[in-house]
Amino acid sequence: MHPELAADLGRLPELLEETRQRALAFLGGLDGRPVLPQAAASGAGPGRPARLAAAGGGSPTGGGSPTGGGSPAGGGLPAGGGLPAALAEFAERWEPRLSASAGPRYFGFVTGGATPAALAGDWLTAAVDQNSNSSLDPAGQHLERETVGWLRELFGLSEAHHGTFVSGATMSNTVGLAIAREWLGERLGVDVAEDGVGALGPVRVLSGGAHSSVAKALSVLGLGRTALRPVPLLPGREAVDAAALERALAESGGPCVVVANAGTVNTVDFDDLRAIAELRERYGFWLHVDAAFGAFAALSPEHAELVAGLDLADSVCVDLHKWLNVPYDSAVQFTRRPDLQARVFRNSAAYLGPLGEHPDLVHLTPENSHRLRALAAWFTLRAYGRSGHREIVERNIAGARALGEAVERIDGLRLLAPVRLNVVCFTLAADPTAERLAALAAGLAEEAFVTPTHYAGLPALRAAFSNWRTTEADVRRTAAALAQAVRNLP
Ligand SMILES: Cc1ncc(COP(=O)(O)O)c(C=O)c1O
Repeated sequence: MHPELAADLGRLPELLEETRQRALAFLGGLDGRPVLPQAAASGAGPGRPARLAAAGGGSPTGGGSPTGGGSPAGGGLPAGGGLPAALAEFAERWEPRLSASAGPRYFGFVTGGATPAALAGDWLTAAVDQNSNSSLDPAGQHLERETVGWLRELFGLSEAHHGTFVSGATMSNTVGLAIAREWLGERLGVDVAEDGVGALGPVRVLSGGAHSSVAKALSVLGLGRTALRPVPLLPGREAVDAAALERALAESGGPCVVVANAGTVNTVDFDDLRAIAELRERYGFWLHVDAAFGAFAALSPEHAELVAGLDLADSVCVDLHKWLNVPYDSAVQFTRRPDLQARVFRNSAAYLGPLGEHPDLVHLTPENSHRLRALAAWFTLRAYGRSGHREIVERNIAGARALGEAVERIDGLRLLAPVRLNVVCFTLAADPTAERLAALAAGLAEEAFVTPTHYAGLPALRAAFSNWRTTEADVRRTAAALAQAVRNLP
């Protein structure tokens, strides 16, 4: 064994303890560190401190580098130094540059954090290092299936929905639309998996406020971004106009795909899923629902109506690294047609055995090998159950509402849409240029992180609540910082 590997193996308990201490220090410092450090925001390159470059690292607990290895001048591939050197260099050079995205005032994108149980589950995922894709070594995929069953219950989906873990909502949308593509082939009497997408002819994918990842998925799947045909929205809303959708279906003249949106990124608007499912009775399309974070409305009795009808979908996308608060990366893909899914993703090889009635996970997603991604979700669901996760969702919704009310009270700001669920979309009351909004976001970034958008014809900012740590105090702190940042604008 290489001497540095042998040295690390010999000191594994001590080194993992040091790693644990560093993780705890990072988490303990979340409230104090800038939410977005200046250097990260400016995009400056990660300099390699001269001391580390020369010495090859060194552990603050005195471990040092057993062989004195280091990185060549100019930041090339380091010669080594063992785990102590890697820990020291990470702590010195990279960790200070990281954002507090695990913390309570990171409102950019829709990010989420990691509950204590999810974090523990994720640590153990690396420790047990399973490749859960085959019944030849089945425990991992049994655990994934148990977790999928719990998620199905959480979102009120029936047992007709089969689920698989994927890396994120983009991949979940891609898998759902790949199954839709196969279904189009079934309707037209061609086998897309065998003969390719050319056998299908032009494809139409109708959607109101589709997320950008849907166009990306269509590009990946060979259907092309222009297959996505935008359907008009209801006035002043991001939800699809069901009457306009019906007209588009009537004109489409063949089987098509409808992507319904359950939770849009700017204003968290919801298509009327039941009305769309009713249209399917007449027009016979594949209904895919992008419920990346909107599916979590099902956990709040006050908001569950927003996702009524989700179970009627043919395929459903739900992200888990967002509102379930498991670490990146994790999402789930549900479908009523696992047979078509296996037709698309079948990976025939003698050592994998036949598909059978319950195909192994290797046959169900673009990945063959994958980590035991479900374990973090299993841990958080096992630890907190429905009520714990409902509490997170409801606290986040209340936080978004409170920030929305604060925005309305702050001189110089304008709320652009009602706070329907967990996102606050706002702009400057006067002269709302993209530059001034960027300056506003930068002025806020030490205290809270928000991301830019465009809504109602205006540049805007959005604050998305999805972290389990966010409290009323964080909302007050964010509102105060926002008011100050507006006053500081030239
Ligand atoms: C509605 C919706 N769909 C899809 C995605 C893509 O998610 P991911 O970044 O996990 O691939 C997002 C991300 O914000 C989203 O909000």
